[in-house]
Amino acid sequence: MGKGFDIGLEALAAGSATARETPANAGSGARGTFFLETFGCQMNDHDSEKVAGVLLARGYRQVQSPEAASVILYNTCSIREKAAQKVFSRLGEFRAQPNEGRMIGVLGCLAQQEGEDIFERAPWVGLVCGSASYSKLPELLAQWEAGQRRVTGLETDTEETFETEMTRRDNPWRAYLTIIEGCDKACSYCVVPYTRGPERSRSSAAVLAEARQLADLGYTEIQLLGQTVNSYRDPSPRGMRFAELLLAAAEVPGIRRVRFTTSHPRDFTPDIVQAIEAQPAVCEHVHLPVQSGSTRVLRAMQRTYTREEYLEKIALLRSARRAISVTTDFIVGFPGETEEDFQETLSLLEAAQFDGAFSFKYSPRPNTPAQTMADAIPEEEKSRRLAMLLEKQREIQTARNAALVGQRFEVLVEGKSRRQNQWAGRTSSNRMVNFTSPVAGLLGQYVQVQVSSAGPNSLAGEAVQE
Ligand code: SAH
Ligand code: SF4
Ligand code: F3S
Repeated sequence: MGKGFDIGLEALAAGSATARETPANAGSGARGTFFLETFGCQMNDHDSEKVAGVLLARGYRQVQSPEAASVILYNTCSIREKAAQKVFSRLGEFRAQPNEGRMIGVLGCLAQQEGEDIFERAPWVGLVCGSASYSKLPELLAQWEAGQRRVTGLETDTEETFETEMTRRDNPWRAYLTIIEGCDKACSYCVVPYTRGPERSRSSAAVLAEARQLADLGYTEIQLLGQTVNSYRDPSPRGMRFAELLLAAAEVPGIRRVRFTTSHPRDFTPDIVQAIEAQPAVCEHVHLPVQSGSTRVLRAMQRTYTREEYLEKIALLRSARRAISVTTDFIVGFPGETEEDFQETLSLLEAAQFDGAFSFKYSPRPNTPAQTMADAIPEEEKSRRLAMLLEKQREIQTARNAALVGQRFEVLVEGKSRRQNQWAGRTSSNRMVNFTSPVAGLLGQYVQVQVSSAGPNSLAGEAVQE
C-alpha cells in the first residue's frame, strides 16, 4: 500500500510536532479527551492528523488508551475484508460496556461503506462519518456535545476538500500534504471511489501555502498525497499540472525533499520524470501500482492500460538520468485469473525489476463490479500464487539492493534502532538504511551514508564523516 520499505524502527520520536502546532486555546477549559486509532493507508493516517487537529482546536486532549477517553474514534479501512473485520472486532470490545457519556465514533472508509448499518450492528456507536464529510466534523461534534446521540456525515457529493485550521502531525520531519482527494477511476475490485467520493483537487495556491507553512514549522520533507496523486488538476485559473506543482513545492525554501504517492499508470506522463530529473529535491521514487501483468486481467479490472503500456512507463523511468526506484502493488487471484495470466504477472515482475512491491490476495468487496464476477479463485490457490510472487520479488530486491553496496546515499534520519549508535533513515529512493555513527543527536538530520551490506528490505552502512 505504498507505506515504503518497512523495518521496525524503535521510535519515531512521535508527538514532538504537537507542541509546535498546539494552538493557544488547546488545553484551556478542556471539554474532554479523545483516543484515535487509525487503520488503512497514508491518506487515512493523514486524515487522522487532521481530525486530531479539529478535536484539539475544540479543546479536547489526546490520550493513548480508549479507557481514558471520552471520545473514542476509529478511522477505518475497508479495502479488503480483513481490514473491515479488524474494525468490527474493535467495536465488539465495547459490547459489554455501558457508554456513560462516552462517544464511540467510526470514521473513514468502512463508515462510508456501511453507513447507518453500523448503528444496527454496534448500537453503542454515536458517530458515523466518511472522509468526504470531514469538513462537517466540527459541526457534527457540536451536535454530539449538544446532546444528539447519533450523528452522521455520509454525503460524498461534495466539492469540498478537508482543510483544517491546524493539523496535528505525527512525524516531526516528514509531513503529509493532501493535494487531491477521492478517486474518479473505476477499478472493478475497489471500494475507494465509493468510500472517498469523487476526485477533488485543492488549488495550487492552497497546496503551496501549506508547503511554506510546513517549512516554517521546521519540516524538511513533504509527501504529496492522493489516491491518484498524478491525476491532480489545479482547479484555480493558474491551472498547474501535477509535474509543475511538484517543482513548485520542491522550490519552497527549507523543503529538501518532496515525495508523492500514489501514481496511477494511466496519468503517469513524461513531464513527471522530467521534474524528477530536473530538481534534486523531488525524490527519486515512484509508487506505480500495476496490479497484474496480464492485459486480459487488467481489462477485467478496468485499469485502463495494457501490460505493454505499463512496461513503456517503466522503460521511461529506467531511462531517466537519476536512478529512480519503482515500487508497485499486485493483486493475485482476481476472478478468472488463469495460471497463464499469473505467469504473465511473474514475467512482468522479472521485466520491471521493482524495488519493492505490496502484494495482496484478491478480496471481494461490497458493491464493486468484481464482487459478482464468475470464476472465483480458491483461497488456497490465491495463497500459492501470493507466496510465489513474494518469493520472486524477494530475490529481485535482494539482487537490486546488493548492487548498491559501496555507494553513498543521503539519508534523512528518522529513528534510532536498538543497538547503540545505530540509526535508521530513508534515502531519496525511499530505501531504509540502518547505519552507525559516532555522532549523537542525528534525528531529523541529513547524513551521508556509505552502504556496506544489503538485505531484501533495507541497506546497512556507516555515516561518512564530512
Ligand atoms: N489508488 C491506488 C491504490 C489504492 S488501494 C491505485 O490505484 O493504485 C491500495 C492497493 O490495495 C491497491 O493498489 C490494490 O493492490 C489493493 N487492493 C485494492 N482493492 C483490493 C481488493 N478488493 N482486494 C485485494 N487488494 C485490493
Ligand atoms: Fe481504487 Fe483504482 Fe481508484 Fe486506485 S485508482 S483508488 S485502485 S479505484
Ligand atoms: Fe485507504 Fe483503506 Fe480507504 S486503503 S482509501 S483507508 S479503504
